Amino acid sequence: MAKPIKLAHVLYMTRRFHQMVDWYRIVFEASVVNQNPAFAFLTYDDEHHRFAFTNLDILKPAGVGAEGRGEIGVNHVGFTYASVGDLLHTYTRLKVAGIHPYWPVHHGTTLSLYYKDPDGNRLELQIDCGSVEQANAYMSSEACAANPVGVRFDPDVLLTRYESGVDVEALLKMPDGAASDLPVAHGLT
Ligand SMILES: [Fe+2]
Repeated sequence: MAKPIKLAHVLYMTRRFHQMVDWYRIVFEASVVNQNPAFAFLTYDDEHHRFAFTNLDILKPAGVGAEGRGEIGVNHVGFTYASVGDLLHTYTRLKVAGIHPYWPVHHGTTLSLYYKDPDGNRLELQIDCGSVEQANAYMSSEACAANPVGVRFDPDVLLTRYESGVDVEALLKMPDGAASDLPVAHGLT
């Protein structure tokens, strides 16, 4: 049985972007790891981000589309596993149980499988693809600025590669490919 090793972060969607960032900085004595007009990432310890904020005024201006479930508030909660093996064992166990990710994506910093619970709450089961220093460097990089969302991957292909003995570094390498769409289930489309 593979269990998460930590609850990693919460991502909020907001139309009070700057107020939210300031509030979390004050309350948690947090610092901004990376911020642009659309996204902000904050941390208060050695995790690369503990809070993330999505600015709906930039990504989804008022009046565009219907105000669906959860557009303002918690978008997802992230849980970190210890290894790619633990994440893939969990993926397989859940698949057998009929629970499937709606969005497998390599964020550059993390390899992530997003799920929805029966109420539609979103969970990100992830592993870190490198050290915190590497994650911080990536989040400040031009590559991340050009594609802050990441690249989709096929978990079954990854599982096959894992089972065939491909080394971890190769498994965790960010795949080439276009920036992923944001799936409808993720609340930004
Ligand atoms: Fe996340």
